[in-house]
Amino acid sequence: MNIISLKSPGLAHLSYLVSSKQEAAVIDPRRDVLEYVRICKDRGLNLKYVLETHRNEDYVSGALELADALGAEVYHGEQLDFAYGNPLSDGQVLKLGNLKIKALHTPGHTIESFCYLVEEKKGPVALFTGDSLFVGEVGRTDLSGEGVWKELSEKLFHSIQEKILPLGDSVMIFPGHGAGSVCGHAIAEREISTIGLEKRDNPLLRLVKEDFVQHKITEKMDRAAYFRVMEEMNLNGPPSMPSFPGIKRISSQELIKHQQQGALVLDARYPQSFAAAHIPGALNIMKDGIASYGGFVIAPGSRMVLVTVDAREAEEAAIFLMRMGFDDVLGHLNNGMESWIKEGRPLQSLGLLSPKELNDMIEAGEPPLIIDVRDEQERSEGIISGAVAVSLESILSGNAAIDGEREAVYYCASGYRGSTAASIMKARGHLRSTVLLGGIGAWIKAGFPILQSDEI
Ligand SMILES: [Fe+2]
Repeated sequence: MNIISLKSPGLAHLSYLVSSKQEAAVIDPRRDVLEYVRICKDRGLNLKYVLETHRNEDYVSGALELADALGAEVYHGEQLDFAYGNPLSDGQVLKLGNLKIKALHTPGHTIESFCYLVEEKKGPVALFTGDSLFVGEVGRTDLSGEGVWKELSEKLFHSIQEKILPLGDSVMIFPGHGAGSVCGHAIAEREISTIGLEKRDNPLLRLVKEDFVQHKITEKMDRAAYFRVMEEMNLNGPPSMPSFPGIKRISSQELIKHQQQGALVLDARYPQSFAAAHIPGALNIMKDGIASYGGFVIAPGSRMVLVTVDAREAEEAAIFLMRMGFDDVLGHLNNGMESWIKEGRPLQSLGLLSPKELNDMIEAGEPPLIIDVRDEQERSEGIISGAVAVSLESILSGNAAIDGEREAVYYCASGYRGSTAASIMKARGHLRSTVLLGGIGAWIKAGFPILQSDEI
């Protein structure tokens, strides 16, 4: 048996290619499927199955595209009415080379969640757990709505305790996400585990049912607007990925025309570059942040023009966007900001503060408005004195009551979301929008104090 893990950074999504005797199965493929196709071709593998652990909500599934490309069969849980693929029932066995793959219905994260147990002759070896069980964490149970949150939390408890843990301590675990995913707060850095290690180290597996359910139904996790779009697409069969590689180069003139027609100018450079000079009205989401929180900020269906350092970065950003179903990337600004600046076109900038500069202002008794855009969980670890919590959602929706006349400094953990928030407010006419460079992480490293959660 051979297992290859393929990771999509940002989304922290993990997919797997399992093979035995020249037969292969892919579990939870991402939308751009060329890498799986390449591996199968290079190794002479016949792709037999594409197995989905559940109807994913944070990325577009590549199941249909991959199955079509290589003639495989798609399988997913029978409890949802998928418009494509084959329904699986609990305990169903699929043969793959010398292996048996046993489908285990493990409801909880979603009603139709399945885990796939791979068995060799001597017994079970590996379990692909999807979003049921992560390393150090368990799956979210809130995504199907308040009405079934408790019921799904109870189901997850039973799935883990009665179906997964009894499989044996030596069984390896391959989860659907790693650290940094929006699908779990406390996913560990290590991406492979065993049931034995999880029993030893995963604190949620030691809770009695009542405490487990209580923990799950009081979790506060953000839900991005694009999740609903992904759920629809992945249930009904996602559209093919737009042609790639290479996205169109767009001139300044064309960019202006697209912007006038409502396209979003998405500037994917670092906050400090964006702050120095950007196109008026542009939204700043650093390229590596697109996959992790772009879906929270960009409205589904948005048409976009990218501004990046170079064409390669534009292609990477476009792939991150397409993995989340944002297909209307019109192109990227040819030669980035350099040509725009040389052509003498209008520019805007954001204020920047270092931790020391902000601290000096606070000590001088003249602090700006200090706005913390992190989520509740992050804030519970401490905030900068005097900071007000304002979510990115309320900044986006225009519901945040921020005094546009005062200087406002935005911060997050590292400065990226702070810059996104400041770019939104600047585009809305808050001319004194400023970013704390490096966020609260740099603030702490510089030795300045934070208020702990019980002091807030
Ligand atoms: Fe999920």
